Amino acid sequence: MGAPLEIETRGLTKSFSGRLALDDVTLGVARGELCGVVGADGAGKTTLLRCVAGLYRPDRGEVVPGRRGRARVGVSPQGFHLYADLTVDENLTFFGAVHGLDRAALGERGQELLRFASLEEHRGRLAGDLSGGMQQKLTLVCSVLHRPPILLLDEPTTGVDPVSRREFWHLLDALHRDGTTILLASAYVDEVERCDHVLFLHEGRLLVDGTLDELVPEGATLEVVLRQRMSGAEPIASGGPA
Ligand SMILES: Nc1ncnc2c1ncn2[C@@H]1O[C@H](COP(=O)(O)OP(=O)(O)OP(=O)(O)O)[C@@H](O)[C@H]1O
Ligand SMILES: [Mg+2]
Repeated sequence: MGAPLEIETRGLTKSFSGRLALDDVTLGVARGELCGVVGADGAGKTTLLRCVAGLYRPDRGEVVPGRRGRARVGVSPQGFHLYADLTVDENLTFFGAVHGLDRAALGERGQELLRFASLEEHRGRLAGDLSGGMQQKLTLVCSVLHRPPILLLDEPTTGVDPVSRREFWHLLDALHRDGTTILLASAYVDEVERCDHVLFLHEGRLLVDGTLDELVPEGATLEVVLRQRMSGAEPIASGGPA
């Protein structure tokens, strides 16, 4: 058996005004896995992450309890969630306090993360004046100050330029290496290709759940496989023509 599940849902179903946003989603993310959720706009990615975080109560189904909780989960929501009129350092102090870190613990951890995110020289700048990529890195830093074993990231690199995306991934890979279990929603197939485990949501349904090796035959690409699943085609046989 592999690592135990750190995130688990069973039959998760949620609708808004009678429209299904999540339709019977059952999944498991093993401890230490970097798991990517991809899907078009409105596919249900944010709803899934919010249910896992305990921010939405599902209509049916469940997030298996005992595997979450404020101290155990770091959340980086979709969009801008920093204090624009506070500096980088002041944002760290604020989010550190939210997570119950004392000044000493915050100082050390914040320093290390800022260095890793190449944000050290920007500590005195207002968060609102940073580039989009820097803001996303700072958001990630703020969400992991308390070393949560589980990290939920909702489209952290959407609209971020390629260089900043690379820097962001440098930080994410380091958290992954440290053993953090990461559930990442992304609009980019090339990002989920970097993940251990791929989930594909389409109109609220989980159409694909597996590792890249399991899902993508030699010579094919994940993009092609996802498109085929979306059109209802049978999965292409491993080793067969794409
Ligand atoms: N709070 C809400 N109130 C009403 N409808 C909602 C709400 N949140 C989500 N929805 C609807 O649920 C469906 C799934 O939305 P969700 O935000 O989970 O998708 P998403 O995959 O995160 O999309 P995006 O890539 O645009 O962020 C959509 O049809 C959306 O309009
Ligand atoms: Mg979303």
